[in-house]
Amino acid sequence: MTSPTAGDREKVVSKLPSGLQQALKVRTAQHGIDIQHAVEAGITDWRGLGSNLDQVDTAGAKSFATFLPNGQWEAFRADCVARGVSIVQGLSQSVLVWLERNPAPGTVRPHTVRRLIVCNQKGGVGKTATAAGVGEAFAENPDQLHAVRVSKYYAALLEDDHAEPELQDLPGLGLRVLLVDFDPQCHLTQQLGHLPLAIDGDSLTKHMAGEAKGKLRDLIVHIEDERFGDRLDLLPACTDAFLLDVKLSGVRAREAALERALAPIEADYDVIIVDCPPSLGLSMDAAAYYGRRRPDEVTGNSGALIIVQAEDSSADAYDLLTSQIQDLRDDMNLELDYLGIIVNHYDARRGYIATSSLSNWMAIQNPRVIGVIGDLKEQKEAVRVKRPLLAYSPRCDQAVGMRALAREIA
Ligand SMILES: Nc1ncnc2c1ncn2[C@@H]1O[C@H](COP(=O)(O)OP(=O)(O)OP(=O)(O)O)[C@@H](O)[C@H]1O
Ligand SMILES: [Mg+2]
Repeated sequence: MTSPTAGDREKVVSKLPSGLQQALKVRTAQHGIDIQHAVEAGITDWRGLGSNLDQVDTAGAKSFATFLPNGQWEAFRADCVARGVSIVQGLSQSVLVWLERNPAPGTVRPHTVRRLIVCNQKGGVGKTATAAGVGEAFAENPDQLHAVRVSKYYAALLEDDHAEPELQDLPGLGLRVLLVDFDPQCHLTQQLGHLPLAIDGDSLTKHMAGEAKGKLRDLIVHIEDERFGDRLDLLPACTDAFLLDVKLSGVRAREAALERALAPIEADYDVIIVDCPPSLGLSMDAAAYYGRRRPDEVTGNSGALIIVQAEDSSADAYDLLTSQIQDLRDDMNLELDYLGIIVNHYDARRGYIATSSLSNWMAIQNPRVIGVIGDLKEQKEAVRVKRPLLAYSPRCDQAVGMRALAREIA
């Protein structure tokens, strides 16, 4: 069935098995093209084939509408008659032809493992929540579509407190991710439903101090969920990290201790995210050193993600953090890139303090604000049930924001 439309395409309504409709939706999103253009190409290729294809099972085909160039549908129907197949069969075969000729693009892996340091010495701002959420977003299934918030929302928020986020369905990023719980409080470990490592066994701290007996790899656990496949791992923390400064006192080049400890497992991952404790000092030095730009690395591949809140005390903490990072850069002669600022717990209903400090954060151009995350109940609920947020509530506002963030950093 066709009906005329403006322009050079006409609307076509037919039927297509729901499995093919879903595959078409995902694959076109993976290639960043419109469904109508894929169907058009599939029909063109199908019409050009010399022989009949195998029958496709079209039982339970569902209504399917698209737009095709004027005249293509009529010519296609005539071909279906000539080949002795139904329209639904011909259309299904055409879509299959397109799917076969346009396989899923492989995941684009970074040249150098990306090391993201999530930091701020101010406590409770959302470092752990962001480290987990962004890591989950990086690891989602590339063969499924996931709701992502369109990023221009942040700019719109400045104009209008009630700006409604727009969503877009995009394929997962499919990267192999390691979340490193670098905080003796062990929050990341516990929030993801795991136990801190036993105090008398091996730990990241012991590996950094050169006291470990086994391999670091043996401490890593999987975060189980179908949407992450086997791509999301966690290096749990141990409360012995409280002793990091003491244990490292006799170690040479202490700031490189984290890098040395993680070196053996780096090749297993595309992204390593370090959830820092709320403190400055040796742990922050070691994390900053780990996130520095390496000689073969492009700017912005690795670096620091700074989590703040839209309130005045966050600005003071930010000044302290950036001056420490500047000192580190100077003292150690390293480049640590800023990946951006994330304003968390944002709630415009808190009035002028919140809205004006959001404007102030937005006014900082380098690093720039790459995400604004609201104060949302789902985050707290996910922590309560010890599940990854993106698995617990995949379409909640914070989950769609975390996916936008991961793509903003990517
Ligand atoms: N956007 C949000 N909406 C609602 N609750 C949030 C949000 N972000 C974080 N939280 C909650 O706020 C608390 C503090 O967050 P989180 O642990 O991520 O902060 P942190 O900066 O890692 O803290 P610390 O400095 O102690 O490591 C947690 O209970 C967390 O679940
Ligand atoms: Mg934390």
